[in-house]
Amino acid sequence: MNDAPKLNQENIPIHVAVIMDGNGRWAKKRGNQRIFGHKNGVKAVKETVEVAGEIGIKYLTLYAFSTENWNRPKPEVDALMSLLVNSIENETDNLIKNNVKLITIGDRTQLPEQVNQKLTQIIQKTEHSTGLTLVLALNYSSRQELTKSIQHIVNQVLTGGISAQEISEETVSKFLYTAQIPDPDLLIRTSGEYRLSNFLLWQSAYSELYFTPVLWPDFRKQDFIDAIIDYQHRERRFGKTGEQLLKK
Ligand code: FPP
Repeated sequence: MNDAPKLNQENIPIHVAVIMDGNGRWAKKRGNQRIFGHKNGVKAVKETVEVAGEIGIKYLTLYAFSTENWNRPKPEVDALMSLLVNSIENETDNLIKNNVKLITIGDRTQLPEQVNQKLTQIIQKTEHSTGLTLVLALNYSSRQELTKSIQHIVNQVLTGGISAQEISEETVSKFLYTAQIPDPDLLIRTSGEYRLSNFLLWQSAYSELYFTPVLWPDFRKQDFIDAIIDYQHRERRFGKTGEQLLKK
């Protein structure tokens, strides 16, 4: 981590979210099947989790499987699920050793039973960790998450729990998967695509966005640090003027 000293320790983002993109293209460039790219993406996941913990980030959210990903060819979906189970199994001890807590966001009821069982085990095994919280977005869709929140709120209104006027931004947030997680300060997307792809749409209202052409399997610790350094040069105004921020 030769660039670590360049980081301003006073301005480490609390929550970084990552859209890990480019596995398929990485494999294709090498004349291989898409799953070869996903397999090599696991190394990038490991490095990113390690470096995030090392520099003191509190939450790292990785977009591992979207609701739209079910539309991929079945062999690819199956291979991705196996990769998840195997990676989770292989990494459990490491996560515990590194004080990492694992949680998930997304609709886990649709995941294969075996994946769910392994997830439940590792979530329990790491629940007392106090370092980095690794948030895996699995079968996640931001629009679906918001739709569910609206359903909960309407139910509350219909049963007399709250009035329509009492619905606030906090009410909406309270019913999202991320209710206990602060909004991302920084959102990274790899592979040169400039989209949010139904990821944390509500939560990223004020996130700094960072796009890199690096394909996910090539993403290394230094790439993550470069993103943090870039973030540290941004002025986060939250709708205010630069002058107002200086007066703070
Ligand atoms: C996007 O690349 C990547 C995914 C849909 C899956 C990400 C999964 C992993 C990195 C492996 C396992 C994850 C964990 C957390 C252990 P793409 O296939 O859309 O690439 P393309 O845009 O080049 O086709």
